[in-house]
Amino acid sequence: MSTTLDLLRPELSRLKPYKPADYVGGCIRLNANETPWRPPGDDSRDGLNRYPDPRPAELAAQLAAHYGVAADMLLVTRGSSEAIDMLIRSFCRAGRDEIVLCPPTFGMYEFYAQIQGAAIRRIPLNRDQGYTLPVDEICAQWTDCSKLVFVCSPNNPTGNSFPDSEVERLATGLAGRGVVVLDSAYVEFAASDPLHGMLARHDNVVVLRTLSKSLSLAGIRCGSMIGRAPLIELIGRALPPYCFPTTSQVAVMRCLGAEAQS
Ligand SMILES: Cc1ncc(COP(=O)(O)O)c(C=O)c1O
Repeated sequence: MSTTLDLLRPELSRLKPYKPADYVGGCIRLNANETPWRPPGDDSRDGLNRYPDPRPAELAAQLAAHYGVAADMLLVTRGSSEAIDMLIRSFCRAGRDEIVLCPPTFGMYEFYAQIQGAAIRRIPLNRDQGYTLPVDEICAQWTDCSKLVFVCSPNNPTGNSFPDSEVERLATGLAGRGVVVLDSAYVEFAASDPLHGMLARHDNVVVLRTLSKSLSLAGIRCGSMIGRAPLIELIGRALPPYCFPTTSQVAVMRCLGAEAQS
């Protein structure tokens, strides 16, 4: 039986992670062609003439503590929107693979699938049963080309949460065949948070979190992709270095610090 890692595009495991210029705090890196002068009006701690940390390790550690997971299980993304894009690009071969959606649901899954050239299989929520998750239909219609199913809970736009037992039944049904992406953008407004149990029991579940909603930080663009460490490491290889701006790193850490004290 194949594993979740086998479902990734093979290019990804062959991809050598980009090696940025060594990051030495406090020094100007001429090897990265940084200018030695700060721009006018720059009152930032480290200087905006400097590239940010290529992978924001300090920020990842703080976010991991916020969500109660190990740091190597979390990839910092520019909003959870970018995590959706990364997942589709990492699993779906253009023109060959597909994602599964359960409408009515968040529109960006479809948008990113179209950009990647991934097909979309739509299996609607059971409207007459209060928008329940069609677990059996998803498992029955799954094909070798199906890679990801997006489960948004609480769901945008219907607002209902799916029982953990149903999401887990889906993960079990797709083990070795597909990945359940649990978009938890609104989970802080729900009665409970299934993150830890879900990740402990299933290697084919990836959870998306964002600071945009419950913490009112949409302008910072900070999302997290959380999953088993080997999967997160491989997907992270496709993320460009230096992509999370210094100003956002500092702002997130300040806001999370204030949140922890409130
Ligand atoms: C269900 C859901 N997921 C993800 C997002 C993306 O949020 P962000 O990119 O700000 O993290 C949204 C935004 O409205 C959303 O409704």
